[in-house]
Formats: sequence, structure tokens, C-alpha cells
Amino acid sequence: MNAVFPGSFDPITNGHMDVLTRAAKIFDHVTVTVMHNARKQGKHLFTLEERLAILRADTAHLPNVSVDSFGGLLVNYMQQQGKGIIVRGLRAVSDYEYELQIAHLNRQLGEVETVFIMAATRWSYVSSSMAREIASYQGDIGSMVPPASAAALRLKFADGQQGQIERGG
Ligand code: PNS
Repeated sequence: MNAVFPGSFDPITNGHMDVLTRAAKIFDHVTVTVMHNARKQGKHLFTLEERLAILRADTAHLPNVSVDSFGGLLVNYMQQQGKGIIVRGLRAVSDYEYELQIAHLNRQLGEVETVFIMAATRWSYVSSSMAREIASYQGDIGSMVPPASAAALRLKFADGQQGQIERGG
């Protein structure tokens, strides 16, 4: 059985990595797919190409994981690719309501099933938006995000200037 792990990944965190690593043990193959929207271009810290490069580097050690991108409805991607199951991570109860709504919508729109994997509690407080914010103030994000993601964040804010940060990712 194949799975898709969709998200913004702006950038990938250790919470994402935890969910992905565990999904890769359950499913034959997992595609990490950066969902992008032309209208949201410029709202992310990293470009689509940067996010894909970070993901490729940080998942290179996982043999049954590949990286992809798609602009459009997730259900269309799932149907076009014949990809199987959607995997989403849950960190805390606060994630649940939003995720439940999306899972129901995706099942209604495209009869696609969603499987939730609980991120380890040590990552419950980690999010892409917090990693971006901390990195923007030159804080230490080395324990929150995987190596390529950390390097990209440090480089992005290397000039000491706080960049454009979109909250909520
Ligand atoms: O990492 P995120 O931002 O929580 O990921 C959310 C994402 C990208 C998986 C979700 O917004 C999505 O699937 N977007 C694609 C458009 C879509 O299918 N929308 C309908 C369900 S909300």
C-alpha cells in the first residue's frame, strides 16, 4: 500500500520527520508532496524549489520515500497518481478539529482515506512557523528541524535581518 504525506513543509520539522519515518515503516512507499497554490506564492519563507531541495536532502536516507509537488486539490493528485492513502500527523488535540474537517472533505470529494500518525510528544510544540520565527532571531533551531532544513533556515537569516514570516504553518 502506498501513501502520500502532503503539506506545506515551509520547512520540514522534526515532527514531520517523525511522522514520515513511522509512515515509511507502515507503508510500502510514501510520497512527501509539497502542496502549492499560485495564489499563495510569496506567502512562504521558502520557494517551492527550496522546499523540495530541503525535503530531498532530509529524506535521502529513507529508501521508500520520494518527494513531489502539486498545485491543486489533494484529491485530484491522489486520483491522478493512484497514490492510495493520505498520511497526516497529529501533534496535539488542537490539530484534531482542522484535520478532521480536511479528512472528511477529502473523503467526500474523492473517496480518499486519511490515516493519522501521532507525532511523538517531544515534537508536540514544534511547528514550521515557530522554527521560522526562532531562526529569524538567530535562535537555535538545531533540535527542532532536520539538518538540511536547519542549514536553509540559518542561511535565510544569515544577514541578521528578520525576513518576511507567515505565521500559521
Ligand atoms: O502543512 P499544512 O499547511 O498543514 O498542509 C495543508 C495541506 C497543504 C495538506 C492542505 O491545505 C491541502 O491539502 N491543500 C491542497 C488543496 C486542497 O486539497 N484543499 C482541500 C482540503 S483543505
